Amino acid sequence: MAKLFPDPAQLDYRPPPALALLEEATRRLDFDMPSVAETGALLRALAGRTSSARVLELGTGTGLATCWLLDGLDAHGTLVTLDNDGAVQQPARDYLGDDPRLHILTEDGADYLRRAAASSFDLVFADAWPGKFVDLARALDLLAPDGIYVGDDLLPQDNWPEGHAARVPRFIEAVSGRTDLEVEYRGWSSGILLARRRRD
Ligand SMILES: C[S@@+](CC[C@H](N)C(=O)[O-])C[C@H]1O[C@@H](n2cnc3c(N)ncnc32)[C@H](O)[C@@H]1O
Repeated sequence: MAKLFPDPAQLDYRPPPALALLEEATRRLDFDMPSVAETGALLRALAGRTSSARVLELGTGTGLATCWLLDGLDAHGTLVTLDNDGAVQQPARDYLGDDPRLHILTEDGADYLRRAAASSFDLVFADAWPGKFVDLARALDLLAPDGIYVGDDLLPQDNWPEGHAARVPRFIEAVSGRTDLEVEYRGWSSGILLARRRRD
């Protein structure tokens, strides 16, 4: 088994408590870009690999991955999740918003990446174009030593917006070219790239 990915067969796929409510709200909103359970299980495992983990999610959507990430955090962990669409984010506020570890921002990802401090996160889940297909270097710079970056939606999907397909190989090439990162891509779940910042 390779170094970065946990063995998918060993992941815990049992859904976190609020997931069913969020899935129902996602259907009601007809939100068509939800993270799938395999990705959620991976994110939960990654959020739990360090104590007091500092996690950033770019692209809250309705809060599905947010729910998995929160479930992996210990009591002292923190999760910042942002989206530029406050209406889409509402289920996350409704069902997860009382959790003191969670900070929900309604903001453009590019603006956040411009003001966030370097090396300030142990896990970055890039699930919007900012931090993945644009401003990639800024998102990677947010990783603390040994921190992990997750980019998903790299396998072809019917719901891809125009321009997504062409950006995928350029994205994988750009991350793989960084000498400060260990990088691994898997055609598993929605197609996932993991990158870990090497310790100096
Ligand atoms: C793939 S969906 C996120 C799915 C979500 N992580 C989940 O678990 O279901 C991408 C999200 O990025 C948001 N988004 C698109 N452009 C953005 C931008 N410039 N800044 C912040 N969020 C953006 C969209 O509103 C959408 O909710």
